[in-house]
Amino acid sequence: MIRMTSRLTGETIFDTPWHPRPLLGIESSCDETSAAVLDERGSVLSNVIASQDAVHRKYGGVVPELAARAHLGTIDRVVKSALSQAGLTRRDLGAIAVTQGPGLAGALLVGVNYAKAFATALKFPLVGVNHLDGHIASAWLADPEFPHPCVVLVVSGGHTHLYRREADGGNRLLGCTRDDAAGEAFDKGAQMLGLDYPGGPAIDRLAKQGNPRAIRFPLSRLRKSSLEFSFSGLKTALLYKLRDMEAPARMAQAADLAAGYQEAIVRVLVDRAFIAVQLSGTKALAVVGGVSANSRLRVLLTERAAMEGVRLALPPMAYCTDNAAMIALAGRQLLLSGRPISQDIDIIPTLRLGTQANTALVQAGS
Ligand code: KG4
Ligand code: ZN
Repeated sequence: MIRMTSRLTGETIFDTPWHPRPLLGIESSCDETSAAVLDERGSVLSNVIASQDAVHRKYGGVVPELAARAHLGTIDRVVKSALSQAGLTRRDLGAIAVTQGPGLAGALLVGVNYAKAFATALKFPLVGVNHLDGHIASAWLADPEFPHPCVVLVVSGGHTHLYRREADGGNRLLGCTRDDAAGEAFDKGAQMLGLDYPGGPAIDRLAKQGNPRAIRFPLSRLRKSSLEFSFSGLKTALLYKLRDMEAPARMAQAADLAAGYQEAIVRVLVDRAFIAVQLSGTKALAVVGGVSANSRLRVLLTERAAMEGVRLALPPMAYCTDNAAMIALAGRQLLLSGRPISQDIDIIPTLRLGTQANTALVQAGS
């Protein structure tokens, strides 16, 4: 391991090759504090997730200030627990990966500062990870042999994006949402239906008791071959349906409303994802991010993939919503890629995919 100071930028740079050792990952971008340990081959030894659902439930959404405070109160315990579940001590580690963005500034600061202190004290490399790269990497956590190139659908609270993922780790954007993300549509719909935060799992549970065909919702009216999404019309449709119903009818048909609303979201996701597979000439599809935990979406994707002979990667539930195992794996891939890695990382709350700031800075300055 070589640590150098760039003559141009004054940054501390870790210059590879990095010899694989156990790696600690940290995620604190939103409302989950998570730490995970991978062994030297990249297998998950532990993945501890402390959810803040109870903190935010009474506000119906994430309160950034409370999220940051909760991360601060939990992070050390979560990291210690990840190390002890992995049967390792901090001296056994060879690197640390942490989410640098996108996310809530205060929440990101807690993870990044903790990781910086940890890496400085132990004198090993620190790698900043794009949260979206983490979600994408989760497809390979359970299936390390999943092929490239492939199509990846990222469906989370803030993203509904289709990419073509290349073997060199590059992602080409194929299409995305014009308005709300799928997770947002779930969360806002749940709020209108009077369900608890977080809305996605609440709609998923309630929809199981309903009939998805009893109350029809419009599927987004984009061109048939389009790879874009739009969920704002659906939200408005739910609002109007609820407004036109008496309170007792709303109660009696809550499960059918949830099932119909969910069906309209997941059918569009499945259709667009398989159009992307067709257009991109690949035979592999990965669906990642919090919404990929949706049980109806998982059923429809699995059926369609079998029908069309497409290889499907659907990460296990623990890797769908925010977790540090995916951050650790994405960080490991960056370290193994041979690119110089800056050690002086800062949070980037608006980080976009393809702009990994810590490496870009070094490349620009070296
Ligand atoms: O990936 P994630 O944990 O955080 C972000 O990076 O945004 O995704 C959170 C989103 C929320 O909108 C949540 O309601 C949704 O994922 N979600 C679900 C389910 N579980 C989580 N949506 C539908 N069905 C679920 N079972
Ligand atoms: Zn996420």
